[in-house]
Amino acid sequence: MSALLEADGIVSGYGEVEILHGVSISVAAGEMIAVIGPNGAGKSTLLKAVFGLIPCAAGTVRFDGIDITNQSPDRIVAQGMSYVPQTENVFPSLSINENLEMGGFIRRERLQERLEHVYGIFPDLAHRRGDSGGKLSGGQRQMLALARALMLEPRLLMLDEPSASLSPKMVESLFQKIDEINRAGTAVLLVEQNAKEALSLSDRAYVLATGENRLDGDAKTMLESEDVARLYLGD
Ligand SMILES: Nc1ncnc2c1ncn2[C@@H]1O[C@H](COP(=O)(O)OP(=O)(O)O)[C@@H](O)[C@H]1O
Ligand SMILES: [Mg+2]
Repeated sequence: MSALLEADGIVSGYGEVEILHGVSISVAAGEMIAVIGPNGAGKSTLLKAVFGLIPCAAGTVRFDGIDITNQSPDRIVAQGMSYVPQTENVFPSLSINENLEMGGFIRRERLQERLEHVYGIFPDLAHRRGDSGGKLSGGQRQMLALARALMLEPRLLMLDEPSASLSPKMVESLFQKIDEINRAGTAVLLVEQNAKEALSLSDRAYVLATGENRLDGDAKTMLESEDVARLYLGD
């Protein structure tokens, strides 16, 4: 199985402070992968390093076989990877429609068609396309951030805790959307605190702790593992 994303031995952090001490993960085309682990484990840092937002001091990131280590985010996006940060992932002063157009702007062709396709996935946003991003509830904002990321028709979608601070009902509909997007063929790398829900949707999962790989394997097996439950699922 050749990987769509292959991060191998990533060493990264902030300034002099090393946070990731050689983390490796892979995502195959169309796969859904969960990354779980305690707060401060380095999950967000890993996504930032993969996406070129912070430098990798060692290790390689390959996307579809091409070395993209330390490339700029805009070059990485152009190759088919979208990243949704945990916060500040929509423009509050722009309308829903403008947010989506901004999300898709690096590709000019078929913009209207892509917009309508994304509105088809998110009908609630279509009904309110003139409303400003700042008026949306937390859950609607996460939906808009997801929709924005899809405007580029990515092959890989990286999501950093999309369900954080949402109500249980919103969490459920958000996860349903993510599942739907994955079933339509987009690979998903999902960082989550809601570990049980993330594992139940995913094919495989990685547990990170203190900037290192701690465990990985089949997501359902992890969900049923007593050790994983005791250490990471809050049971
Ligand atoms: N911008 C930053 N500057 C310095 N240290 C940071 C920064 N962001 C995160 N860290 C530190 O990196 C470590 C890992 O953080 P993070 O990747 O956000 O963990 P997680 O997403 O798993 O909760 C933490 O110790 C955190 O304090
Ligand atoms: Mg985080």
